[in-house]
Amino acid sequence: MPLTCSDVLRACRAGPSARAEFEEAIRAYHGSQAAFAVSSARAALWSALCVLKARHPGRNRVLLPAYTCPTVGRAVLAAGLEGLCVDVSAEDFNIDAEQVERHLSDRVLAVIAAHMFGTPCDLTRLTAACDRTGAVLIEDAAQACGARFAGQVVGSFGRMAVLSLGRSKNLRGASGGVLLVNDPDLLPGVRQVLKHEDREEGTKKHEEGCAGLSQSRTAGAGKAQPSTAVLVPLRGLCALRVSGLPGTREPPLFTAVRNLQTW
Ligand SMILES: Cc1ncc(COP(=O)(O)O)c(C=O)c1O
Repeated sequence: MPLTCSDVLRACRAGPSARAEFEEAIRAYHGSQAAFAVSSARAALWSALCVLKARHPGRNRVLLPAYTCPTVGRAVLAAGLEGLCVDVSAEDFNIDAEQVERHLSDRVLAVIAAHMFGTPCDLTRLTAACDRTGAVLIEDAAQACGARFAGQVVGSFGRMAVLSLGRSKNLRGASGGVLLVNDPDLLPGVRQVLKHEDREEGTKKHEEGCAGLSQSRTAGAGKAQPSTAVLVPLRGLCALRVSGLPGTREPPLFTAVRNLQTW
């Protein structure tokens, strides 16, 4: 079903209800406890790490793949944590589960499993290793929304997961991200960090917190976006309508929306 002009206008007018509709659709698709639409995957990652840091003050190290998008490392540093780059497997360029097992310790707060190029990491082994040591598995499915591991959609294995709605991603909007929460115990902390009940305030705080993550898009977002409140649901709706549909083409209005965001 192609995106129509009336969809875009509806999204502009609908505000929080379109966002809620998008969040529920993406939550249900992943079978998650909750899904939160935010400004980017890096912002979702930063939020997830802040939640975990507050819960486990004795753990300050995050294992991340040595080869991935640089924003992943920046999110770790912006959250005030120490990143330890773990080598990737030459088979699929994903974080090497054996190397992760070697580096896990009671200092490790989280392991970020980025599914590169749509290929899932070894989630069986990573989940087991994290469970054994008390580290939290965060899936970075920025490049892999819709991919499956052992028949189950990625983003549903880790205790939290992030998706990107960036313009080059397979579930694309103009930009945007999603934080998926699969562990109900983490929900109060996530709501606290995102101030979900007061989204405008939450978005502002969240953009401030992410200011170190990018010199362009995320840092400038608070100033340059016409209105985060309008664009977030709009991105979500765009992503839902445009994704995965054989033969669909990007409607001209969608391009216009993207151009609005050249910051
Ligand atoms: C693996 C991975 N993680 C995170 C991100 C960041 O996504 P966003 O631009 O939505 O912050 C990207 C973007 O390319 C990515 O490839």
